[in-house]
Amino acid sequence: MIKFQLNGSPAEWEIKPNEILLDTLRRMGLKGAKEGCRQGECGVCTVLLDGKPINSCLLYTARIDGRKLLTIEGVTPPKKKDLSCEKELHPIQEAFLEAGAVQCGYCTPGMVLSTKALLDKNPNPSEPEIKKALEGVLCRCTGYVKIIDAVQSAAKKLNRKI
Ligand code: FES
Ligand code: FES
Repeated sequence: MIKFQLNGSPAEWEIKPNEILLDTLRRMGLKGAKEGCRQGECGVCTVLLDGKPINSCLLYTARIDGRKLLTIEGVTPPKKKDLSCEKELHPIQEAFLEAGAVQCGYCTPGMVLSTKALLDKNPNPSEPEIKKALEGVLCRCTGYVKIIDAVQSAAKKLNRKI
């Protein structure tokens, strides 16, 4: 049994011995983190652990005990005064859609979470800083120009909200 914070709420999960976090997440129905290389190379399995991007394919689930885990499912805030399961998009997700930075979407959860980790600590990143923050996530579809545009646009959106 592990106890941790999952997407802002306390969670307790029974885990299997030597289970890998990516497998636990998907077994628990959180399928936003994708499976790609399983070798720490592609970043499609990215989640934030204590605010930092990690490859969930490389971490034993037991290591998240007592820590804060954010998955893409926790990025979209529930609609206010809405009892349905519908959710609003986070400004970063809006920016990715508006910039055309999403095609197949396989890399997008990792891109959005890596962007969130960056903008949480650096609200006005330079282009080299954006490239550095996203270098662990590979996109097979878009090229990276639109993704960088999206991160810059997300920064502007979030700064307007402050
Ligand atoms: S599946 Fe984890 S880095 Fe590729
Ligand atoms: S949008 Fe397809 S891999 Fe990035």
